[in-house]
Amino acid sequence: MQHLINSNVTNIEISGIRKFFNMVSGYSDVVSLTIGQPDFPTPDHVKEAGKTAIDENRTTYTHNAGMLPLREAISAFVHDQYNLSYDPKEEIISTVGASQAIDITFRTILKPGDEVILPGPVYPGYEPLIRLAGAKPIHVDTRDHDFKLTKELLSEHITNQTKCIVLPYPSNPTGATLTKDEVEDLAHFLKDKELFVLSDEIYSQLTYDEPHTSIASFEGMKDRTVVINGVSKSHSMTGWRVGYTLAPAWLSKHMLKVHQYNVSCPTSISQYAALEALTNGKEDTETMRQAYEKRLDYVYHRLTNMGIELEKPGGAFYVFPRFPIEKMTSFDLGIELVEKGGLALVPGDAFSSYGQGYMRISYAYDMETLERGLDRLETFLKEKSFI
Ligand SMILES: Cc1ncc(COP(=O)(O)O)c(C=O)c1O
Repeated sequence: MQHLINSNVTNIEISGIRKFFNMVSGYSDVVSLTIGQPDFPTPDHVKEAGKTAIDENRTTYTHNAGMLPLREAISAFVHDQYNLSYDPKEEIISTVGASQAIDITFRTILKPGDEVILPGPVYPGYEPLIRLAGAKPIHVDTRDHDFKLTKELLSEHITNQTKCIVLPYPSNPTGATLTKDEVEDLAHFLKDKELFVLSDEIYSQLTYDEPHTSIASFEGMKDRTVVINGVSKSHSMTGWRVGYTLAPAWLSKHMLKVHQYNVSCPTSISQYAALEALTNGKEDTETMRQAYEKRLDYVYHRLTNMGIELEKPGGAFYVFPRFPIEKMTSFDLGIELVEKGGLALVPGDAFSSYGQGYMRISYAYDMETLERGLDRLETFLKEKSFI
């Protein structure tokens, strides 16, 4: 019977991150710097809003696009933070995390044979969804460009089949951000092209160099861009599962059909919590951002003092250093680091082949854990004569 399963699904592999965790799950006394989510609890007033929603029986379906007050709050938030103008009635869909927002975007726009450009190394959540739609991911090597997609790189890779470009900045796993000028440059290049941009801005509140600029804020771009965002990283709400899409009405109305038949709506309780977070949670985000910034400084200085070459990332909560490994893969290094060094980092090859030789270090951990983890890294690298 197995041959009856959709081959687009059987051909998808479990993510490199998951494979790595399966391999190392049995080890004890391992310091882990692997996590891809905030280590802070959800702010109390946000939790209260969720609890109140339960107590007041606000536990029914909502509008498919999410309850209007939430969409209004999203609209006000993105206007205030990124100078974006989206009509809450027709241009915003509240989704089950940014993950579902990415899914409905791809399923609405992609057909078999289409190509989607991704800047590699890249978050592994896009490729399987592209393949499920029968489309083809085209990874662009950004290693010599500080992990940034540029108009020159795009010119080299855009073909007649290109349907969409994924712009995932600030980046998981590299922490790379685009400056306002860099985004403007891309916008200028893309504004006349018959292409969609999926701009995944889930880390947009976590920047340490300059505030985030959304490509949709430039002239001509709103009509060809789907902005993906949510409260998972900004308000430490990964388990509540609330994200959203911002897209022009003519596109949003089709995305809403895919969304409706998929999930009906995000959880009502979570919507009330997200409403509170986006309305009254600005300071929570800023407090967490400042803590991440201090940790980034610490991690960056420790690594550079070890002699590891690293461009200081401008956003998210990851650093992505390269290690001098020629004869082994990042995956092998990851396993050896756990077995012999008592430290877990995510192997860079989990983020496409362009991550080969790199490891992702998350600093969504308290200082004590970071210190212990980096001590172990230093000892391991010395023993291996890497430094
Ligand atoms: C770049 C990127 N996009 C999307 C997501 C998914 O976010 P959510 O938890 O809101 O679905 C993640 C999660 O790690 C991510 O790193």
